Amino acid sequence: SMDMAMKLQLFRNARIFTPEDRGRPSSGNNQSRIIRYDHGAMVVREGIITNIGAEADVLRAIGGERFIDEYDCLGRSMIPGFVDPHTHCCFASLREEEFELRAAGTPYLEILRRGGGILSSVNAVSKATVAELSNMTRDLVLRALKLGTTTIEIKSGYGLTTEAELKMLEAIGNTAQEVPLDVVATFLGAHAVPAEFRDRSDDFISLLIEESLPAVKKQGIAKCCDIFCEEGVFSIDQGRRLLLAAKSLGFSVKIHADEVHDLGGAGLAAELGAISADHLLAASDDNIRAMAKAGVVANLLPGTAYSLRKPYARARDMIEMGVPVALATDCNPGSSYTESMQFIFGLAVVNMEMSPAEALVAATLNPAYALGIAQQVGSLDIGKQADFLLLDGEGPAVLAYHAGVSSVQEVFKKGVRVTC
Ligand code: NIG
Ligand code: FE
Repeated sequence: SMDMAMKLQLFRNARIFTPEDRGRPSSGNNQSRIIRYDHGAMVVREGIITNIGAEADVLRAIGGERFIDEYDCLGRSMIPGFVDPHTHCCFASLREEEFELRAAGTPYLEILRRGGGILSSVNAVSKATVAELSNMTRDLVLRALKLGTTTIEIKSGYGLTTEAELKMLEAIGNTAQEVPLDVVATFLGAHAVPAEFRDRSDDFISLLIEESLPAVKKQGIAKCCDIFCEEGVFSIDQGRRLLLAAKSLGFSVKIHADEVHDLGGAGLAAELGAISADHLLAASDDNIRAMAKAGVVANLLPGTAYSLRKPYARARDMIEMGVPVALATDCNPGSSYTESMQFIFGLAVVNMEMSPAEALVAATLNPAYALGIAQQVGSLDIGKQADFLLLDGEGPAVLAYHAGVSSVQEVFKKGVRVTC
Protein backbone atom coordinates (compact mmCIF):
# COMPACT_ATOMS: atom_id res chain seq x y z
CA SER A 1 0.00 0.00 0.00
CA MET A 2 3.00 2.26 0.43
CA ASP A 3 3.64 2.35 -3.37
CA MET A 4 0.09 3.58 -3.85
CA ALA A 5 0.97 6.67 -1.90
CA MET A 6 4.15 7.25 -3.88
CA LYS A 7 2.27 7.45 -7.17
CA LEU A 8 0.53 10.41 -8.58
CA GLN A 9 -3.14 9.71 -7.95
CA LEU A 10 -6.27 11.17 -9.48
CA PHE A 11 -9.57 10.90 -7.62
CA ARG A 12 -12.35 11.90 -9.97
CA ASN A 13 -16.12 11.94 -10.24
CA ALA A 14 -16.67 13.05 -6.62
CA ARG A 15 -19.07 15.49 -4.99
CA ILE A 16 -16.53 17.34 -2.88
CA PHE A 17 -17.44 19.19 0.33
CA THR A 18 -14.63 20.78 2.32
CA PRO A 19 -14.43 23.53 4.95
CA GLU A 20 -12.95 26.78 3.75
CA ASP A 21 -9.68 27.16 5.68
CA ARG A 22 -9.18 30.84 6.42
CA GLY A 23 -6.02 30.38 8.46
CA ARG A 24 -7.71 30.16 11.84
CA PRO A 25 -10.56 28.21 13.42
CA SER A 26 -13.89 29.05 11.78
CA SER A 27 -16.34 30.91 13.99
CA GLY A 28 -19.62 32.80 13.70
CA ASN A 29 -20.80 32.93 10.07
CA ASN A 30 -17.60 31.21 8.94
CA GLN A 31 -18.49 28.13 11.01
CA SER A 32 -20.67 27.05 8.06
CA ARG A 33 -18.34 27.96 5.18
CA ILE A 34 -18.03 24.94 2.90
CA ILE A 35 -16.44 24.83 -0.54
CA ARG A 36 -18.31 22.51 -2.84
CA TYR A 37 -17.50 20.96 -6.23
CA ASP A 38 -20.46 19.01 -7.59
CA HIS A 39 -18.31 17.25 -10.15
CA GLY A 40 -14.93 17.43 -8.48
CA ALA A 41 -11.51 15.87 -8.70
CA MET A 42 -8.39 15.80 -6.56
CA VAL A 43 -4.76 15.06 -7.40
CA VAL A 44 -2.52 13.51 -4.76
CA ARG A 45 1.26 13.03 -4.81
CA GLU A 46 2.89 10.99 -2.08
CA GLY A 47 -0.12 11.41 0.16
CA ILE A 48 -0.34 15.19 -0.23
CA ILE A 49 -3.02 17.06 -2.17
CA THR A 50 -1.50 18.89 -5.15
CA ASN A 51 -4.70 19.98 -6.88
CA ILE A 52 -8.42 20.01 -6.14
CA GLY A 53 -11.42 21.57 -7.84
CA ALA A 54 -13.94 21.10 -10.60
CA GLU A 55 -12.98 17.98 -12.53
CA ALA A 56 -12.70 19.80 -15.87
CA ASP A 57 -10.26 22.33 -14.36
CA VAL A 58 -8.18 19.68 -12.64
CA LEU A 59 -7.94 17.55 -15.80
CA ARG A 60 -6.89 20.58 -17.80
CA ALA A 61 -4.21 21.43 -15.24
CA ILE A 62 -2.64 17.96 -15.19
CA GLY A 63 -2.66 17.89 -19.01
CA GLY A 64 -0.77 14.90 -20.35
CA GLU A 65 0.83 13.87 -17.03
CA ARG A 66 1.48 10.12 -17.15
CA PHE A 67 1.61 7.27 -14.66
CA ILE A 68 -1.55 8.46 -13.08
CA ASP A 69 -3.37 6.08 -10.82
CA GLU A 70 -7.00 6.90 -11.47
CA TYR A 71 -9.79 6.28 -8.98
CA ASP A 72 -13.45 6.77 -9.92
CA CYS A 73 -15.40 7.96 -6.85
CA LEU A 74 -18.67 7.00 -8.62
CA GLY A 75 -20.30 10.32 -7.85
CA ARG A 76 -20.10 9.79 -4.09
CA SER A 77 -19.69 12.61 -1.60
CA MET A 78 -16.13 13.29 -0.51
CA ILE A 79 -15.38 15.04 2.79
CA PRO A 80 -12.20 15.36 4.87
CA GLY A 81 -11.54 12.55 7.36
CA PHE A 82 -12.90 13.27 10.83
CA VAL A 83 -10.53 14.77 13.39
CA ASP A 84 -11.56 13.63 16.88
CA PRO A 85 -9.90 16.08 19.31
CA HIS A 86 -10.90 14.56 22.67
CA THR A 87 -10.81 10.88 23.61
CA HIS A 88 -9.88 8.70 26.57
CA CYS A 89 -9.68 5.60 24.40
CA CYS A 90 -6.67 4.08 26.18
CA PHE A 91 -8.18 1.97 28.96
CA ALA A 92 -8.07 -1.57 30.31
CA SER A 93 -11.70 -2.50 30.94
CA LEU A 94 -15.26 -1.44 30.22
CA ARG A 95 -17.78 -0.26 32.85
CA GLU A 96 -21.07 -1.60 31.60
CA GLU A 97 -22.42 -2.22 35.11
CA GLU A 98 -21.99 1.49 35.88
CA PHE A 99 -24.00 2.36 32.80
CA GLU A 100 -26.79 0.23 34.21
CA LEU A 101 -26.54 2.01 37.56
CA ARG A 102 -26.76 5.36 35.80
CA ALA A 103 -29.63 4.14 33.65
CA ALA A 104 -31.38 3.39 36.96
CA GLY A 105 -30.73 6.94 38.17
CA THR A 106 -27.41 7.02 40.07
CA PRO A 107 -25.53 10.25 39.17
CA TYR A 108 -22.13 10.04 37.44
CA LEU A 109 -20.29 12.00 40.16
CA GLU A 110 -21.92 9.87 42.87
CA ILE A 111 -20.38 6.74 41.31
CA LEU A 112 -17.00 8.50 41.34
CA ARG A 113 -17.47 9.48 45.00
CA ARG A 114 -18.05 5.82 45.83
CA GLY A 115 -14.65 4.99 44.33
CA GLY A 116 -16.05 3.81 40.98
CA GLY A 117 -16.09 5.72 37.72
CA ILE A 118 -12.70 7.05 36.69
CA LEU A 119 -11.18 5.40 39.77
CA SER A 120 -12.39 1.98 38.64
CA SER A 121 -10.63 2.51 35.31
CA VAL A 122 -7.53 3.57 37.26
CA ASN A 123 -7.62 0.29 39.14
CA ALA A 124 -7.86 -1.71 35.89
CA VAL A 125 -5.03 0.24 34.24
CA SER A 126 -2.78 -0.30 37.26
CA LYS A 127 -2.91 -4.05 36.59
CA ALA A 128 -2.45 -3.87 32.80
CA THR A 129 0.80 -4.10 30.86
CA VAL A 130 1.83 -1.63 28.16
CA ALA A 131 1.15 -4.35 25.55
CA GLU A 132 -2.35 -5.04 26.89
CA LEU A 133 -3.16 -1.35 26.89
CA SER A 134 -1.84 -0.71 23.41
CA ASN A 135 -3.65 -3.78 22.04
CA MET A 136 -7.00 -2.52 23.36
CA THR A 137 -6.31 1.01 22.21
CA ARG A 138 -5.28 -0.16 18.75
CA ASP A 139 -8.48 -2.21 18.31
CA LEU A 140 -10.58 0.76 19.33
CA VAL A 141 -8.70 3.22 17.15
CA LEU A 142 -9.01 0.91 14.13
CA ARG A 143 -12.78 0.80 14.67
CA ALA A 144 -12.77 4.60 14.75
CA LEU A 145 -10.78 4.61 11.50
CA LYS A 146 -13.38 2.42 9.79
CA LEU A 147 -16.01 4.91 10.92
CA GLY A 148 -14.08 7.76 9.31
CA THR A 149 -11.75 9.17 11.98
CA THR A 150 -8.33 9.75 10.40
CA THR A 151 -6.80 11.85 13.21
CA ILE A 152 -7.40 11.27 16.91
CA GLU A 153 -6.35 12.76 20.21
CA ILE A 154 -5.87 10.26 23.05
CA LYS A 155 -5.42 11.18 26.71
CA SER A 156 -3.74 9.41 29.55
CA GLY A 157 -5.50 9.91 32.89
CA TYR A 158 -6.31 6.45 34.18
CA GLY A 159 -2.86 6.14 35.74
CA LEU A 160 -2.78 8.87 38.37
CA THR A 161 0.76 7.96 39.42
CA THR A 162 3.74 9.20 37.44
CA GLU A 163 4.68 5.62 36.59
CA ALA A 164 1.21 4.55 35.46
CA GLU A 165 0.70 7.76 33.46
CA LEU A 166 4.01 7.15 31.65
CA LYS A 167 2.83 3.58 31.00
CA MET A 168 -0.39 4.85 29.41
CA LEU A 169 1.48 7.38 27.30
CA GLU A 170 3.90 4.67 26.17
CA ALA A 171 0.92 2.53 25.13
CA ILE A 172 -0.57 5.49 23.25
CA GLY A 173 2.80 6.12 21.58
CA ASN A 174 3.02 2.46 20.54
CA THR A 175 -0.52 2.55 19.17
CA ALA A 176 0.41 5.60 17.14
CA GLN A 177 3.20 3.57 15.48
CA GLU A 178 0.85 0.72 14.63
CA VAL A 179 -2.12 2.51 13.06
CA PRO A 180 -2.40 4.65 9.94
CA LEU A 181 -4.14 7.47 11.84
CA ASP A 182 -2.34 10.54 13.14
CA VAL A 183 -2.43 10.35 16.94
CA VAL A 184 -1.98 13.34 19.27
CA ALA A 185 -1.23 12.33 22.87
CA THR A 186 -2.35 14.37 25.88
CA PHE A 187 -1.18 14.06 29.48
CA LEU A 188 -4.22 14.07 31.79
CA GLY A 189 -2.52 13.25 35.10
CA ALA A 190 -5.09 15.51 36.81
CA HIS A 191 -8.14 13.44 35.84
CA ALA A 192 -9.25 12.50 39.36
CA VAL A 193 -7.93 12.83 42.89
CA PRO A 194 -6.30 9.51 43.84
CA ALA A 195 -7.60 7.93 47.06
CA GLU A 196 -4.28 8.61 48.87
CA PHE A 197 -4.70 12.35 48.21
CA ARG A 198 -8.37 12.57 49.05
CA ASP A 199 -8.13 15.52 51.44
CA ARG A 200 -4.98 17.09 50.11
CA SER A 201 -5.46 17.54 46.39
CA ASP A 202 -3.12 20.57 46.44
CA ASP A 203 -0.30 18.17 47.30
CA PHE A 204 -1.29 16.01 44.34
CA ILE A 205 -1.08 19.03 42.02
CA SER A 206 2.37 19.78 43.45
CA LEU A 207 3.44 16.22 42.74
CA LEU A 208 2.19 16.51 39.16
CA ILE A 209 4.14 19.73 38.71
CA GLU A 210 7.35 18.63 40.37
CA GLU A 211 7.55 14.98 39.32
CA SER A 212 5.08 13.98 36.59
CA LEU A 213 5.25 16.90 34.17
CA PRO A 214 9.06 16.83 33.85
CA ALA A 215 8.97 13.03 33.40
CA VAL A 216 6.26 13.28 30.74
CA LYS A 217 8.24 15.99 29.01
CA LYS A 218 11.35 13.81 29.03
CA GLN A 219 9.40 10.83 27.68
CA GLY A 220 8.43 13.03 24.73
CA ILE A 221 5.11 11.44 23.68
CA ALA A 222 2.49 13.88 25.02
CA LYS A 223 2.09 17.19 23.26
CA CYS A 224 -0.76 18.61 25.39
CA CYS A 225 -1.67 18.79 29.07
CA ASP A 226 -5.26 18.62 30.28
CA ILE A 227 -7.06 18.78 33.67
CA PHE A 228 -10.58 17.91 34.88
CA CYS A 229 -11.82 21.04 36.72
CA GLU A 230 -15.02 20.09 38.52
CA GLU A 231 -16.64 20.20 41.95
CA GLY A 232 -15.08 17.46 44.05
CA VAL A 233 -12.24 17.02 41.54
CA PHE A 234 -9.88 19.95 40.80
CA SER A 235 -10.50 23.66 41.34
CA ILE A 236 -9.82 26.53 38.97
CA ASP A 237 -6.84 27.63 41.07
CA GLN A 238 -5.37 24.14 40.86
CA GLY A 239 -6.01 24.14 37.12
CA ARG A 240 -4.22 27.45 36.74
CA ARG A 241 -1.24 26.23 38.75
CA LEU A 242 -0.83 22.98 36.80
CA LEU A 243 -1.44 24.43 33.34
CA LEU A 244 0.92 27.38 33.85
CA ALA A 245 3.63 24.89 34.77
CA ALA A 246 2.75 22.79 31.71
CA LYS A 247 2.89 25.83 29.44
CA SER A 248 6.31 26.77 30.74
CA LEU A 249 7.53 23.30 29.71
CA GLY A 250 6.14 23.81 26.22
CA PHE A 251 2.93 21.78 26.40
CA SER A 252 -0.24 23.05 24.74
CA VAL A 253 -2.96 23.20 27.38
CA LYS A 254 -6.64 22.33 27.43
CA ILE A 255 -9.32 21.91 30.09
CA HIS A 256 -12.30 19.69 30.93
CA ALA A 257 -14.31 22.78 31.76
CA ASP A 258 -17.72 23.38 33.30
CA GLU A 259 -19.02 19.90 32.51
CA VAL A 260 -21.38 19.52 35.46
CA HIS A 261 -20.93 22.75 37.46
CA ASP A 262 -19.97 26.24 36.31
CA LEU A 263 -16.63 26.65 38.11
CA GLY A 264 -15.26 29.01 35.46
CA GLY A 265 -13.12 26.58 33.49
CA ALA A 266 -14.06 28.34 30.25
CA GLY A 267 -12.75 31.60 31.69
CA LEU A 268 -9.50 29.94 32.74
CA ALA A 269 -9.09 28.55 29.22
CA ALA A 270 -9.43 32.08 27.83
CA GLU A 271 -7.02 33.49 30.42
CA LEU A 272 -4.35 30.88 29.61
CA GLY A 273 -4.82 30.88 25.82
CA ALA A 274 -5.73 27.20 25.94
CA ILE A 275 -6.02 25.38 22.60
CA SER A 276 -9.51 24.29 23.64
CA ALA A 277 -12.01 24.19 26.48
CA ASP A 278 -13.99 20.98 26.45
CA HIS A 279 -17.52 19.94 27.56
CA LEU A 280 -18.89 23.40 28.62
CA LEU A 281 -22.41 22.16 29.42
CA ALA A 282 -22.63 24.62 32.31
CA ALA A 283 -20.37 27.45 31.03
CA SER A 284 -21.57 31.02 31.62
CA ASP A 285 -22.17 33.63 28.90
CA ASP A 286 -19.39 35.85 30.21
CA ASN A 287 -16.85 33.08 30.03
CA ILE A 288 -18.06 31.99 26.59
CA ARG A 289 -17.51 35.58 25.41
CA ALA A 290 -14.04 35.50 26.94
CA MET A 291 -13.30 32.34 24.95
CA ALA A 292 -14.49 34.03 21.75
CA LYS A 293 -12.21 36.97 22.42
CA ALA A 294 -9.22 34.72 23.07
CA GLY A 295 -10.00 32.47 20.06
CA VAL A 296 -10.27 29.33 22.19
CA VAL A 297 -11.97 26.43 20.41
CA ALA A 298 -14.97 24.89 22.23
CA ASN A 299 -14.75 21.12 22.00
CA LEU A 300 -18.34 19.97 22.49
CA LEU A 301 -18.95 16.36 23.44
CA PRO A 302 -22.63 15.55 22.92
CA GLY A 303 -22.00 11.82 23.42
CA THR A 304 -21.51 12.65 27.09
CA ALA A 305 -24.77 14.57 27.36
CA TYR A 306 -26.48 11.66 25.60
CA SER A 307 -24.97 9.02 27.84
CA LEU A 308 -25.36 10.97 31.10
CA ARG A 309 -28.85 12.21 30.10
CA LYS A 310 -27.78 15.83 30.51
CA PRO A 311 -28.88 18.87 28.55
CA TYR A 312 -26.64 19.49 25.55
CA ALA A 313 -24.04 22.26 25.38
CA ARG A 314 -25.34 25.54 23.97
CA ALA A 315 -23.72 25.27 20.55
CA ARG A 316 -26.01 27.86 18.94
CA ASP A 317 -25.26 30.49 21.58
CA MET A 318 -21.54 29.74 21.30
CA ILE A 319 -21.56 30.10 17.52
CA GLU A 320 -23.55 33.33 17.79
CA MET A 321 -21.09 34.65 20.39
CA GLY A 322 -18.20 33.92 18.01
CA VAL A 323 -16.63 30.85 19.58
CA PRO A 324 -15.23 28.33 17.07
CA VAL A 325 -17.03 25.05 17.80
CA ALA A 326 -15.51 21.58 17.40
CA LEU A 327 -17.05 18.18 18.08
CA ALA A 328 -15.45 15.13 19.70
CA THR A 329 -16.51 11.69 20.85
CA ASP A 330 -14.95 11.91 24.35
CA CYS A 331 -14.67 8.15 23.79
CA ASN A 332 -14.20 6.58 27.24
CA PRO A 333 -15.61 3.62 29.17
CA GLY A 334 -17.66 5.85 31.50
CA SER A 335 -19.42 8.94 30.25
CA SER A 336 -19.36 8.39 26.48
CA TYR A 337 -18.57 4.99 25.03
CA THR A 338 -18.53 5.63 21.29
CA GLU A 339 -15.82 5.84 18.66
CA SER A 340 -18.24 7.15 16.04
CA MET A 341 -17.86 10.77 14.97
CA GLN A 342 -20.92 10.22 12.78
CA PHE A 343 -23.01 9.54 15.88
CA ILE A 344 -21.65 12.77 17.42
CA PHE A 345 -22.39 14.64 14.18
CA GLY A 346 -25.99 13.41 14.33
CA LEU A 347 -26.42 14.50 17.96
CA ALA A 348 -25.00 17.93 17.10
CA VAL A 349 -27.40 18.47 14.21
CA VAL A 350 -30.50 17.02 15.81
CA ASN A 351 -30.07 17.96 19.49
CA MET A 352 -27.79 21.02 19.34
CA GLU A 353 -29.39 22.64 16.31
CA MET A 354 -26.17 22.87 14.37
CA SER A 355 -26.49 22.86 10.58
CA PRO A 356 -24.80 19.98 8.74
CA ALA A 357 -22.31 22.52 7.32
CA GLU A 358 -21.47 23.80 10.81
CA ALA A 359 -21.13 20.25 12.09
CA LEU A 360 -18.82 19.35 9.20
CA VAL A 361 -16.48 22.24 10.05
CA ALA A 362 -16.73 21.20 13.71
CA ALA A 363 -15.77 17.61 12.93
CA THR A 364 -12.82 18.37 10.64
CA LEU A 365 -11.22 21.83 10.39
CA ASN A 366 -11.87 23.30 13.84
CA PRO A 367 -10.58 20.25 15.72
CA ALA A 368 -7.47 20.30 13.50
CA TYR A 369 -6.88 23.84 14.75
CA ALA A 370 -7.62 22.79 18.32
CA LEU A 371 -4.86 20.18 18.02
CA GLY A 372 -2.43 22.57 16.32
CA ILE A 373 -2.24 20.48 13.12
CA ALA A 374 -4.45 22.40 10.70
CA GLN A 375 -1.48 22.83 8.35
CA GLN A 376 -1.60 19.09 7.68
CA VAL A 377 -5.22 17.95 8.14
CA GLY A 378 -8.80 19.16 8.61
CA SER A 379 -9.71 20.23 5.07
CA LEU A 380 -9.02 19.21 1.48
CA ASP A 381 -6.54 21.86 0.42
CA ILE A 382 -3.36 21.86 -1.61
CA GLY A 383 -0.44 21.00 0.67
CA LYS A 384 -2.52 19.08 3.21
CA GLN A 385 -2.71 15.31 3.59
CA ALA A 386 -5.21 13.46 1.38
CA ASP A 387 -7.24 12.21 4.35
CA PHE A 388 -10.80 11.80 3.11
CA LEU A 389 -14.02 9.81 3.24
CA LEU A 390 -16.46 8.74 0.57
CA LEU A 391 -20.06 8.80 1.81
CA ASP A 392 -23.07 7.02 0.44
CA GLY A 393 -25.30 10.10 0.56
CA GLU A 394 -25.75 13.28 -1.46
CA GLY A 395 -23.80 15.36 1.04
CA PRO A 396 -22.66 15.67 4.67
CA ALA A 397 -26.28 15.93 5.88
CA VAL A 398 -26.57 12.18 5.43
CA LEU A 399 -24.30 11.79 8.47
CA ALA A 400 -27.16 13.03 10.66
CA TYR A 401 -30.03 11.88 8.46
CA HIS A 402 -29.08 8.21 8.28
CA ALA A 403 -29.04 7.41 11.98
CA GLY A 404 -27.52 4.38 13.62
CA VAL A 405 -25.50 3.11 10.66
CA SER A 406 -22.27 4.25 9.09
CA SER A 407 -22.51 6.29 5.90
CA VAL A 408 -18.74 6.08 5.50
CA GLN A 409 -18.07 3.74 2.58
CA GLU A 410 -14.37 4.35 2.04
CA VAL A 411 -11.65 5.89 4.17
CA PHE A 412 -8.37 7.18 2.70
CA LYS A 413 -5.39 8.23 4.79
CA LYS A 414 -2.63 10.10 2.94
CA GLY A 415 -4.12 8.87 -0.33
CA VAL A 416 -4.10 5.22 0.74
CA ARG A 417 -7.39 3.39 1.06
CA VAL A 418 -7.57 1.90 4.55
CA THR A 419 -11.03 0.31 4.25
CA CYS A 420 -11.66 -2.78 2.16
O1 NIG B 1 -14.54 13.65 29.70
N1 NIG B 1 -15.04 14.19 32.79
C1 NIG B 1 -14.06 13.51 33.01
N2 NIG B 1 -13.52 12.63 32.20
C2 NIG B 1 -14.18 11.92 31.20
C3 NIG B 1 -14.85 10.71 31.72
C4 NIG B 1 -13.89 9.67 32.01
C5 NIG B 1 -14.50 8.44 32.63
O2 NIG B 1 -15.63 8.44 33.15
O3 NIG B 1 -13.79 7.44 32.60
C6 NIG B 1 -15.08 12.83 30.42
O4 NIG B 1 -16.31 12.74 30.47
FE1 FE C 1 -13.10 13.82 28.56
